[in-house]
Amino acid sequence: MSIIKMAKSIKKNVKAELNPPPAVAGRVWRPQWLPSWFVLKSEAEAHPHDPAERAELFLGYNTGSTEMEVLNWLYSTILLLKPQHIVETGAADGLGTIALASACKANGFGRVHSIEIDTEVCARAQELLKRAELAEWVEYHCEDSQQFLGKTKVQFDLGFFDSLCEIRAQECAVCMERGILHGPAIFHDTSPHRTKTLKKDPGEPAHSEYRKALKAVATKYFDGNFCETTLSRGLTILLPKVYPPAT
Ligand SMILES: C[S@@+](CC[C@H](N)C(=O)[O-])C[C@H]1O[C@@H](n2cnc3c(N)ncnc32)[C@H](O)[C@@H]1O
Repeated sequence: MSIIKMAKSIKKNVKAELNPPPAVAGRVWRPQWLPSWFVLKSEAEAHPHDPAERAELFLGYNTGSTEMEVLNWLYSTILLLKPQHIVETGAADGLGTIALASACKANGFGRVHSIEIDTEVCARAQELLKRAELAEWVEYHCEDSQQFLGKTKVQFDLGFFDSLCEIRAQECAVCMERGILHGPAIFHDTSPHRTKTLKKDPGEPAHSEYRKALKAVATKYFDGNFCETTLSRGLTILLPKVYPPAT
């Protein structure tokens, strides 16, 4: 580490000690990997929720980004599973990519392949990753997810499918059909309560079809292994029986 980098890191740590994060929704917790410029709020304010989802217990940034607890779980999972290549579909404001890339940085290896169809969003996310000093851990692919997944030669060890709910199961199916995903497949926004408070993006019946399609993907490619948490926006995890797969 250069002297300048070391001085910057000491300054950052001292600043964090002197200025603990402000309480959000009654809690001072904030993920250690989250850059200081992201201002958090209660997930209950970020997005309308059914009471069964307990959104008041979660921290969010905005409607399009993933809750901190989910991202922190992804961060820890990457520390546990040590994936070499990770795929994320849908970058939006780059929060998911930051969590995944920070975990690769903490492991000391790994690469996030983030696929985002919107070229402006893609360019902004790239700038953000530079600002967060994480650019070297990420490859952005500014194109349609299924097009990219249908042709890439990269072999993935973990997939975070987070583009449009309507196409996420199919993104995973493309990976499984091509034999390019060898680890867990993780899907966001799967709460069965979601459409009680959110009528679009997607509404019914598309959201129920999303949940059904994930069960079908689990049956076909993951020995029926399917587990979900229905809290907040909901998260579904499809796990291979053994990880890493026996060679
Ligand atoms: C829910 S946001 C992603 C949130 C982000 N992963 C996070 O954790 O904060 C969905 C993103 O998927 C992108 N998207 C939609 N359709 C897509 C497609 N076919 N291929 C790639 N990205 C897509 C949208 O432009 C949007 O930025």
